Amino acid sequence: MAVKPVEKIWMNGKLIDWNDAKIHVLSHVIHYGSSWFEGIRCYETKKGSAIFRHREHIARLFDSAKLYRAEIPYTIEQVMEADKETIRVNKLKACYIRPVAYRGYGDVGVYPMGCPVDLTIAVWEWGKYLGPEALEKGIDVRFASWQRAAGNTFPTTAKAGGNYLNSQLMKMEARVDGYEEGIALDMNGQISEGSGENIFIVRNGTLYTPQFVNAILPGITRATVMQLAKEAGIPVVEGNLPREIVYLADEVFFTGTAAEISPIRSIDRMTIGTGKPGPITRELQKRFFDVVENGNDQHGWLDFI
Ligand SMILES: Cc1ncc(COP(=O)(O)O)c(C=O)c1O
Repeated sequence: MAVKPVEKIWMNGKLIDWNDAKIHVLSHVIHYGSSWFEGIRCYETKKGSAIFRHREHIARLFDSAKLYRAEIPYTIEQVMEADKETIRVNKLKACYIRPVAYRGYGDVGVYPMGCPVDLTIAVWEWGKYLGPEALEKGIDVRFASWQRAAGNTFPTTAKAGGNYLNSQLMKMEARVDGYEEGIALDMNGQISEGSGENIFIVRNGTLYTPQFVNAILPGITRATVMQLAKEAGIPVVEGNLPREIVYLADEVFFTGTAAEISPIRSIDRMTIGTGKPGPITRELQKRFFDVVENGNDQHGWLDFI
């Protein structure tokens, strides 16, 4: 998806022109994947522009960096304010927000501690991630032949740049084969997640989703959907899920900041349920979009600009 440039990018505390937001080729991140980032949405709700679960996203950014002993030289509050400043200066009402912290230019070599931890924040207008019709009609996905890394290799709890090499393999394999997305299994053959989404499965009225030990990113939309489901009286089970459960599911959907709540209509060319978004998916979409579109926020999830 092509990015439509805006005027300014926030870089280490300064707002600079979009085209000047550059780093040195010997920056550690380029060679060793040492970055930690967030994907956040600012919605134009009926009550004004608001960032969805802003603090949770920035807290996760700090957690991701901490796992790699990287100290972001700002506070959570300062980064939240910088996000808002970048949106305001670019005069956007709704956008995607991409803060990324990374090991910059300093020493060379794997040992990273001699490199600064830099932070940039870019914002841009972004539509529907899995295509404009995904939320309505659902998408076709396959199981990836690539699996998620074992828990003692590198942590999937960190939203680290390097993790997305695995995601790229999955995503390319799916797209080249004519699917929208792939679902990865974990190292034990149990369901993990999509390349950039968590997964939920509905069977006999209960919502199932993999747990943290299944090599998932602890998604903020995932947590949101679990909360909304409980409030709707839908039982939620986090557990080890075998691959075959998805083929027999009544409904399956992905969640993510980019994907929001995207129904899956087929997996490996097998139709899921009726092949159309089911009632539980619809109910959760309704509750989710009531917050981010209508601005009806009972939970303190919206941070108004
Ligand atoms: C690998 C992966 N899993 C899950 C998610 C969903 O997380 P969230 O709902 O916090 O955007 C994302 C997106 O950030 C992701 O990249």
